[in-house]
Amino acid sequence: MHKICILLLIYSIAWSQQRSLDARIDSVLSKMTLDEKIGQLNQYSGGFFTGVNKNRLSGSYEQLIREGKVGSLLNVFGSEQTRKMQRIAVEQSRAKIPLIFGLDVIHGCKTTFPVPLAEASTWDTAAVALSARWQAIEASSAGIHWTFGPMVDIARDPRWGRIVEGSGEDPYLGSLMAAARVRGYQGGDLAANNTIVACAKHFAGYGGAEGGRDYNTVDMSERTFREVYLKPFKSAVDAGAGTLMASFNEIGGVPSSANHQLLTRILRDEWKFDGFVVSDWNSVGELIPHGAAKDLAQAAELGINAGVDMDMESDAYIASLKNLVNSGKVSQNTIDESVRRILRIKFRLGLFEDPYKYCDAAREKAQTRSKEIISAARMIAGKSIVLLKNDGEILPLKKSIGTVAIIGPLANSKRDPLGAWAQQGDSGDVVTVVEGVRQKLSAAQVLYEQGCGITDSSKNGFAAAVAVAKKADVVLLVLGESLAMSGEAYSRSRLDLPGVQEELAEAVCAAGKPVIVILMNGRPLAVPWIVEHSNALIEAWFLGVQSGNAVADVLFGSVNPSGKLPVTFPRSVGQIPLYYNNKNTGRPGDPRNHYTSAYFDLENTPLFPFGFGLSYSKFEYSHLTLNVSSMTMDGSLTASVDVRNSGTRAGEEVVQFYIRDLVGSVTRPVKELKGFSKVALRPGETKKVEFVIMPEHLKFYTLDMTYAIEPGEFMLFAGGNSRDVLEVPFTVTQ
Ligand code: NOJ
Repeated sequence: MHKICILLLIYSIAWSQQRSLDARIDSVLSKMTLDEKIGQLNQYSGGFFTGVNKNRLSGSYEQLIREGKVGSLLNVFGSEQTRKMQRIAVEQSRAKIPLIFGLDVIHGCKTTFPVPLAEASTWDTAAVALSARWQAIEASSAGIHWTFGPMVDIARDPRWGRIVEGSGEDPYLGSLMAAARVRGYQGGDLAANNTIVACAKHFAGYGGAEGGRDYNTVDMSERTFREVYLKPFKSAVDAGAGTLMASFNEIGGVPSSANHQLLTRILRDEWKFDGFVVSDWNSVGELIPHGAAKDLAQAAELGINAGVDMDMESDAYIASLKNLVNSGKVSQNTIDESVRRILRIKFRLGLFEDPYKYCDAAREKAQTRSKEIISAARMIAGKSIVLLKNDGEILPLKKSIGTVAIIGPLANSKRDPLGAWAQQGDSGDVVTVVEGVRQKLSAAQVLYEQGCGITDSSKNGFAAAVAVAKKADVVLLVLGESLAMSGEAYSRSRLDLPGVQEELAEAVCAAGKPVIVILMNGRPLAVPWIVEHSNALIEAWFLGVQSGNAVADVLFGSVNPSGKLPVTFPRSVGQIPLYYNNKNTGRPGDPRNHYTSAYFDLENTPLFPFGFGLSYSKFEYSHLTLNVSSMTMDGSLTASVDVRNSGTRAGEEVVQFYIRDLVGSVTRPVKELKGFSKVALRPGETKKVEFVIMPEHLKFYTLDMTYAIEPGEFMLFAGGNSRDVLEVPFTVTQ
């Protein structure tokens, strides 16, 4: 009774707050002209361009804001600059509605954190939320209210350059990362002056681009769309994401910015999302080249009626909505609803109380590149590193190692470790691997030669590189991609090391010294030669400003690596798409049997499976057991597995649980990640790790598209990656 009373009280407070917010929104709305309403739906880039716009209204930003033609600016940065624009909106425009300033804070603002794919390798939601929290603190102090993140697109194709911005291939891991980032950016209270509103993007299916070519066509079953691609978006919405961004792509012939089913039926009606949807850059205008609209007016009509509330940079709304309302093609109510959603977020941010709350120069100075944020960036970078090979336990290195030769085009690069979308990041802040290692050793111990540039065809630097390798006791070879080889519009047709880097590796390995390869890259690479010939291999992705320190922390053992791959590494680009939660097929690949699903010139297995990553500790799994072997459709059962650290160092292991539904009305994946825990183990220590299987873990879209469990036989797997697992069967009864 007591509990019910408290719940009723909470509910009635929430309801009355909502009512008073709605009343305030309606009061603002009632004083606005149609032109001013349409202005709220218009967003311009006030700084650099991250796309093209051929239709731009003439006039300065200042003038357009004054005339009430702009509801939001992106790419305006800094407390002073944003204050200047805000002042025009709230003091010189008639309706006096504050602007909302957006920016791509994808993995940091001034202080660049690891790229999102790297952070997903932590499998540590608290660390990822903390990273987003710090990014929000720094960005909000520079006048930013709104980040265009998290990017929650599932990516099964590493050719797609934007794989670097997301959390990899798995919907479960991706959903947890999405929610963690939303929580981190938005904090507990959007009205606080150090929280920013999140934007889950790109809604939806963008990562399914054919051929991995950016902006390309997407076509997939509704089942896959809902079970794989929509899951992280639902998770972001459930975590309270205030906004979503419509994607560039079409699915089944319908571009997202004209997709009523997606933006209204699913997002608003099914998921009860009450924030607003922004288009991607000119994605409403691009309905014309898509072949969905004949002109900008029709593009505007399709966009607003589908559920795109704010038009980023296509000028479709500002140019056409008034006529469309007057001709009855767009209802006044549709416009009002979109304006309401935008005002709701502005209210939640507290901008009507204090439009300048993010424009405080003193706070900006104190929060930018603070000691605390830099140390958080180093800690998270260390957790993002994945150790892929460590033959003979060559790592960690002792400081008494003797001479270290550091070679490779990324060894001393100041810019590349920032990674894609580090717009405000400064290469001057980057600690390179050479610098990081020099912090750990005496100057005389460290030799450096670049060897070649990232995309070079010249081998002129090889001789000098081989010469330092010969003088050294161990070689650190830092290879990979440039920052500009992943991210938007940077898809690749190949997944090997660019230029002559592999030949450099061959020359250096021939010197006969132990070689530790450190990869910096924005996507999985297909580098079987490197895997075979290196003594140790570290996946460092792009780790941001603290790259070199984090790599050195792992090399010398002050950090014991605990990262796991959030995405499969293929052996060859020809295997793509290659992901762990694939279907079995009617003829699963079998090298002993020719007529099976395989390549005749390459095995089916990946170079490294999803979830893989080593540690300086050794983890052994045993005794995977269930408390009972059967559960009902609304019941649960508890699995447990013993994990022992049989090594000599304390370490952390990500214990992973996968499930397979053996027979269904539709076929199910061979494994699906359903849970994991990161556990710390001292040498010799064993922990029993539990996982409770709940009905939610077993549901899928059945033959008739109901989301339900089907009774039958299942398999549970537990292990340190998706390949090396223990298994135990269980049954679900009616
Ligand atoms: C286009 C990109 O697709 C999107 O991710 C980004 O947020 C916008 N441009 C704004 O820069």
